[in-house]
Amino acid sequence: MAIDIKERDKKYIAGTYKRNPLALVSGKGALAYDETGREYIDMTSGIGVNAFGFADKEWQQAISNQAAKIQHASNLFYTEPCSRLAELLCKKTGAYKVFLSNSGAEANECAIKAARRYSYLQYGPGRHYIITLKNSFHGRTLLTLTATGQDSFHKEFDPFVEGFLYADAFDIAEMKKFIEEYPVCAVMMEIVQGEGGVRALDKQFVAEVQSLIKDKDILLICDEVQSGNGRTGEYFAYMHYGLQPDIVTTAKGLGGGLPIGATLFNLKTQNALSAGSHGSTFGGNPIACAAACSIVERIDEKLLQEVTKKGTYITGELTGSKGVKSVSGLGLMLGIETERPVQELVSACIQRGVLVLTAHEKLRLLPPLNIEWEQLKKAVEIIKEELAK
Ligand SMILES: Cc1ncc(COP(=O)(O)O)c(C=O)c1O
Repeated sequence: MAIDIKERDKKYIAGTYKRNPLALVSGKGALAYDETGREYIDMTSGIGVNAFGFADKEWQQAISNQAAKIQHASNLFYTEPCSRLAELLCKKTGAYKVFLSNSGAEANECAIKAARRYSYLQYGPGRHYIITLKNSFHGRTLLTLTATGQDSFHKEFDPFVEGFLYADAFDIAEMKKFIEEYPVCAVMMEIVQGEGGVRALDKQFVAEVQSLIKDKDILLICDEVQSGNGRTGEYFAYMHYGLQPDIVTTAKGLGGGLPIGATLFNLKTQNALSAGSHGSTFGGNPIACAAACSIVERIDEKLLQEVTKKGTYITGELTGSKGVKSVSGLGLMLGIETERPVQELVSACIQRGVLVLTAHEKLRLLPPLNIEWEQLKKAVEIIKEELAK
């Protein structure tokens, strides 16, 4: 008798997820197949993870080649893919050093620890405040939940970590006040807020933040967990803004589907962490790093231009379309404010063979970066029809 995947999951998996009523069993590129063999166009890429879609050939090859050599060695030894990935990331972005971990939350934990330690080493104890933005999302560990600027996350798990302040993302006055009144070591922000509703920060606000912190040696941390690795049409979203962050975090699309996180340090912060001050058993795992190399290597100018073109196409099709109040985001990281209730839309799109996401009250689209034009056009047409109902 066939195993009922959904029933078994409901029985044994901790109930932290509200799953859609289908099990995905295979895929190819932007096409996914459920347990009955039904085909879907994937506009989610596993929440921005499967950068090159399902079962990408180069990615598969990189993983199987590495698995046949060495799958893990611990960080007590050098392994080749780990330094290759770090070199690739530094060369792409101008960073000086990279710490490798396993998820976005861990990349952010590392960034926050490094910012506090940098300040401690330079100025001694007490200068430990971190300003994040209201409506932000930085992860699910206690520290990154604390960093997350949404009240709904700040319940039931207290006490939280001390020393966080939440500034308005669209009014510089609050940020200014915090910087004047508190001993602040870093400002941390998503340039495009993802979970909080796919909102790109205002360019003037971002420039004002940079100028406020410049002479005070307050570090700028950009959380590019969701917006990084080509998702917005630049390697990192901060590059659209001409920003020079001190620390950048990323994960999701970096591994193309294997768990990996990275924290990138600039010239100033490169020695903020030293031997024994941070670590991770699985961080820098050779298979995850080989997978990530196969992704990062292919995020070139041509791909970034395609991402921009596809994002512009979706935005153009949906802006002003019936049932659409607004479209926000950058590149292939888009949020649609809808007239129809968003959960109803997700179900309707799935029924029509298109997988979509939500972000708060918005419909969120994060298709694979290399989705084929024909698949994209078909998915957008269906989404458009459902939005109009
Ligand atoms: C901007 C941002 N930061 C951090 C995280 C946490 O990443 P992870 O779930 O890999 O820990 C996410 C996840 O959605 C995110 O979007």
